[in-house]
Amino acid sequence: MSRPSAVGLTTGNAPLPDFPQLRTCPYQPPPGYRDLRLAEGPVVRARLYDGRPTWVVLGHAVARELLVDPRLSSDWGRPDFPSPSPRRKAIQKATMLIGMDQPEHSAYRRRVIPSFSVRRTRELGESIHRRAGELVDALLEQGPPAEILRGLALPLSSHTICGILGVPYEDHAYFEEQSAMLVASHASEEDATGALTNLRDFLVSLVDRKEKEPEPGEGLLDTLVHKDLAEGSLSREEVIALGIILLMAGHETTASMITLSTFTLLQHPGQLEAFRADPDAAGPAVEELLRYLSIGDVAMRIAAEDITVGDVRIEAGDSVMLSAAEINRDPEAFEDPDVLDLGRGARHHLAFGYGVHQCIGQNLARAQLRSALTLLFSRIPGLRLAVPAEEVEIKPAQSGVQGIYELPVAW
Ligand code: HEM
Repeated sequence: MSRPSAVGLTTGNAPLPDFPQLRTCPYQPPPGYRDLRLAEGPVVRARLYDGRPTWVVLGHAVARELLVDPRLSSDWGRPDFPSPSPRRKAIQKATMLIGMDQPEHSAYRRRVIPSFSVRRTRELGESIHRRAGELVDALLEQGPPAEILRGLALPLSSHTICGILGVPYEDHAYFEEQSAMLVASHASEEDATGALTNLRDFLVSLVDRKEKEPEPGEGLLDTLVHKDLAEGSLSREEVIALGIILLMAGHETTASMITLSTFTLLQHPGQLEAFRADPDAAGPAVEELLRYLSIGDVAMRIAAEDITVGDVRIEAGDSVMLSAAEINRDPEAFEDPDVLDLGRGARHHLAFGYGVHQCIGQNLARAQLRSALTLLFSRIPGLRLAVPAEEVEIKPAQSGVQGIYELPVAW
C-alpha cells in the first residue's frame, strides 16, 4: 500500500501523515510510526480518516503519564469525540465503561469486577483449558488443512464470554454466528452497525429469558438481572449495554491474538522450539507475545483541558490517539524491542492499556492464550502454514483490532 513518508511532514504546509497506518507485516507496527517517533519524538501530529488533526502518542513514558491524567477524557458520548475509522465510529455508539469518564465509569466497573475475580478466573481457566483441548482434538480428528481463527480461536473466545455472561449452552451456535459476523464486518460503518444491532437483539432476548427464570444461574448477566435490575439499581438498558461491551471488548481481541500468535510463532521457529520445550514458561511467553503484537493498537482520547506533556501543548478539544504497537517497541522501555524474546519477562507493556480503563478481562485473555497455544503446539507438533506467509491477509489499519483474517494450517 502506498503511504506518505512520515518524516518531516508535520512542518510547513505539507500534509499531515495518516493515522492509523497499515501494518505491512502482521506482527510489526506500521513502519511509518517508527519514522515519526525518530523524527519528531514521542508525541506527533497526524490526520484522521475524516481529515481531523490528531496528536499521536508513540512513547512509553508519555503514554503512561497521559493514560492516568484525568484531563484526558474517554467520553465517547461527546459529539466532538474523535474516531480513527468509520467502523470505530459505529462501535463508539456503545459507550459503556470504555467510553466513560469518572465517576460514572467506576460505578459501572465496580458492578462487573466480581466476575473477573481471581476465584472466577481460576474456575473459568479450567473450563477454558478443557474447551481448548476439545477444539484442538477436533482439528486433529478432522485432519489437515484446518483454519485457526474459526477452528480454535473464535470458538474458544465465544466459549469464554458465554461462561462469563452466563449464555446457555444451546445458544452457543447462534452466538458464535453473530460474533463471527462482527469480526467479519471490518470496513463499513453500516456493517458494524448491523453487527452491533444483531448482538443487541441477542442480548435483549437473553435478558428477557433470564428475567423469567426462577433462580439465577452463575453468569454475570444472571447477577445483573436478578440483583441489580430486580432492585432497580440498574435499568434494563444498562444491563444490555454492559453485556454488549463485554462481548465486543473480549471476543475479537482474544480470537485475533490467538490467531496472530500462532502465525508469529510459526514464523519464529527458534522461539517456537523454546516455547515447546518448556510449557512452564508459557506465562512469560504469552506476555511477550502480547507486547510484541499489541493488537489493540489504538486507544482514543480527547483533551478535556489544556495539557502540557514534555514540550508539547495539547489544547482542550484536541484528539489524542495512542498506538500501543509503537509504544511497546519503545527502546527506552524495552531492550532490543524489535526482537521477539519469549523469555524477556517484561510485564510493563501497555497491550492491555493503563490506568482506570485497563483491560478488565486481561487474565481471562492470558488464560485462553496459554491454553490455546500450549495445547495446539504440543498436540500437533508438525503444525505449519498451509499457504505462503505473504498470502496471509492483514486486517486493515482502520479495523479496531489488528490481526489477520484467517490462518490456514496443515501438519
Ligand atoms: C488479548 C486480548 C485483549 C486485548 C489485547 C485487550 C486490550 C484492551 C485494551 C488496550 C483496553 C484499554 C482501552 C483503552 O484504554 O481505551 C481494554 C479495555 C477493556 N477490555 Fe480488553 N483486551 C483483551 C481481552 C479482553 C477480554 C477477554 C475481555 C472481557 C471478557 C475484555 C474486556 C475489556 C473491557 C470491558 C475494557 C474496558 C475497561 C474499562 O474501560 O474499564 N478484554 N482491553
